[in-house]
Formats: sequence, C-alpha cells, structure tokens
Amino acid sequence: MLTLDEIFPPFALRISGGPLELRVLRDDDLPELVELVRGGVQDPDLPMPFLRDWHQEPFAPGSPDGFPTTSLRWWWTQRATFAPDEWRLALVVRRDGELVGMQDLHAQDFAQTRQVMTGSWLGRGHHGTGTGTLMRQLVVGFAFDELGAGQCESGYIVGNHASAAVSRKAGYVDNGRRRIVQHTQQGKVGVVEQRVVVTPATFVRPEVPVSVEGAEVLRRFFAIDREPAES
Ligand SMILES: CC(C)(COP(=O)(O)OP(=O)(O)OC[C@H]1O[C@@H](n2cnc3c(N)ncnc32)[C@H](O)[C@@H]1OP(=O)(O)O)[C@@H](O)C(=O)NCCC(=O)NCCS
Repeated sequence: MLTLDEIFPPFALRISGGPLELRVLRDDDLPELVELVRGGVQDPDLPMPFLRDWHQEPFAPGSPDGFPTTSLRWWWTQRATFAPDEWRLALVVRRDGELVGMQDLHAQDFAQTRQVMTGSWLGRGHHGTGTGTLMRQLVVGFAFDELGAGQCESGYIVGNHASAAVSRKAGYVDNGRRRIVQHTQQGKVGVVEQRVVVTPATFVRPEVPVSVEGAEVLRRFFAIDREPAES
C-alpha cells in the first residue's frame, strides 16, 4: 500500500540541521501544537508580530470560533489549496523531537518570480536559544539550494527586535517600509512593517550540517525546475 508521503509529497519533506527538524504539519502534530500556542507565543515587551492575533483568540476547543478552530481552518486550507501557482508549507519545527514552533514558506507564481516569503514563531518558552535563527537559515537554504529560489522575503513590525535580529543574522538586508493593517481583538490597527530580503549572495548559512529529504518529489509536485529559467 502507498504511504501518506507518497500520496501527498509535501509530507515527505524533512529538513534537518543540528537539533532541529522541519516537516509539513500533520494532523498528529495538532494536539502538541495547540498546547504550545496555549502556553504563549508573543514576548509581551515586543509588538504584536502577526497580521491577525490568532494566538490571542479565546482558547475554546470544540467551539466553532476562537482558538484552535480558526487556526485549524487556516492550516487545513493551506493543505487543501496546494498548487504550483501558489503554495504554502506550514513547517512544524521540532527541537530534539519536541515541537517548539512553526516556520512558514509561501510562494506565488514561483516559476516566474523565483521568490519565496517566510514567517515564523516559537512557543514563548523556546525563545532566545538560537532556534529562530537556525530554523530561518534552514528554510532559506532549502529555498535556494533545493528549489532554486533567487530571493527570500520577510518582514517584521518595527520594534520586533527579536525578528529583526534573526533576519540580520541570516543575511537579510532592508527592503523598504510600509504601513500595514493588523487585525486584533480590539479591531484594526495600523503599524509600520520593515521589509527585508535575502539572496544567495548575502545569505549566512547555518554552522551545522544540513540534510534534506523529499525535495525531488516536492519539486515535481510544484512543477519546479531546479534551475531558474533566467537568472
Ligand atoms: C522572532 C523569533 C522567531 C526569534 O526566535 P528566537 O529563537 O527567540 O531567536 P534567536 O534565539 O535565534 O535570537 C535571535 C536574536 O534575537 C535577539 N532577541 C531575542 N529576543 C529578543 C528581545 N526580546 N529583544 C531584543 N532582542 C531579542 C537575540 O538576542 C538574538 O540576537 P543575538 O544573537 O545577536 O543576541 C521568536 O522570538 C518568536 O517566535 N517571537 C514571536 C513571534 C514573532 O515575532 N515572529 C516573527 C514574526 S515576523
């Protein structure tokens, strides 16, 4: 019988480096993930980091609204809408086997743009030990080396010093500022986002050896030629 990895190639992806392993979210991960979010995500001294404050919604398992139902809807939508024109990989990050956070990778018209976007978060108890930097380096290295990306973009709310430091340490450079809207429990809020971008020329690779499994089937699934059509 076919395995789930063979039926749905994103599940076959495994990016490992040092104590970290990144894999696409599976339903079996959900109880651990929900508990992690329940324990807190945001550093209270830093600005709210997301477009929507999903991590601060009322904890209401089994109800149609609140956390985790709204987040489940989002994670499952990503899986249901995978397509070469637009795909999102919600990568669960495990450190020595323990689920500590998520690293997202998103692309639109990748064949033409050779561009990916990233977003990430860690459970509050796992901040400040180098995990945020390493998981970003792992996913950026994967995008450059295995997918043939030309650049990776990210952004952080001005004042989010932790995210700014991760970007700087991974070799990102500033790419302009813009005003964006955050959707919070108190309504819409306007904030300034700092855009950042990293290319193979500026990328700071992790100091640990990295291994990737399942990239070839994923490239086929996403209709990606490893080499850009033109650089
Ligand atoms: C952003 C985040 C992923 C960073 O992960 P992390 O594992 O804490 O980061 P690292 O341990 O790799 O540290 C990276 C740098 O940030 C710095 N840093 C961490 N927390 C900080 C804080 N509260 N204020 C200032 N700097 C901070 C660290 O000192 C380190 O820099 P250094 O090595 O030069 O000292 C994590 O803090 C997080 O999940 N935050 C909440 C969600 C979030 O902000 N996501 C980003 C959305 S853009």
